[in-house]
Amino acid sequence: MNREEVLDSVKDNVENANLVKHMFATEAIMRALARRFGEDEEEWGLTGLLHDIDAELTEGDMSSHGKLGADLSREMGASEAMAHAILCHNETLGVSSETKLDKALYCVDPLTGLITAAALVRPEKKLEAVEAKSVRKRFKEKSFAAGASREQINTCIDIGLELDEFIEIGLLAMQGIAPQLGL
Ligand SMILES: [Fe+2]
Repeated sequence: MNREEVLDSVKDNVENANLVKHMFATEAIMRALARRFGEDEEEWGLTGLLHDIDAELTEGDMSSHGKLGADLSREMGASEAMAHAILCHNETLGVSSETKLDKALYCVDPLTGLITAAALVRPEKKLEAVEAKSVRKRFKEKSFAAGASREQINTCIDIGLELDEFIEIGLLAMQGIAPQLGL
């Protein structure tokens, strides 16, 4: 599978521009983590890009979100490892995270929202104006971007990263694609 095909499929299945941006952000951070760990960057990146491909198709049905995404991904040629990560990023399915790829996707997913919110509260609304230490501060404010589960972000420790480094990697990765994210 190549990125172009995956992107076409994402665009065919997801209309909401913010959701597509979330998938871009997830891809960028997954790529950065793959580089950090010497893992397969394409596999990790495309897992991030694909992970919510079924979010509109499943219309909020959390009992199928992730399952359909994994099936669609397999049809496109995704590896079983990728499909498994997509399955278990929705914890309500009860599929337990096993691999580093599974665990990485799980903790990256909510981090994108926290970092996006940290950019949007800046007067410039730009990622370049955001510093890792301000994201760290926002992390501690429970009411700030409350949808971004702090508990889930904290599972970065399961892939061997301290929160500070995880935030730094995530911020840098998102800054690297800021124009695509409109931030
Ligand atoms: Fe997501």
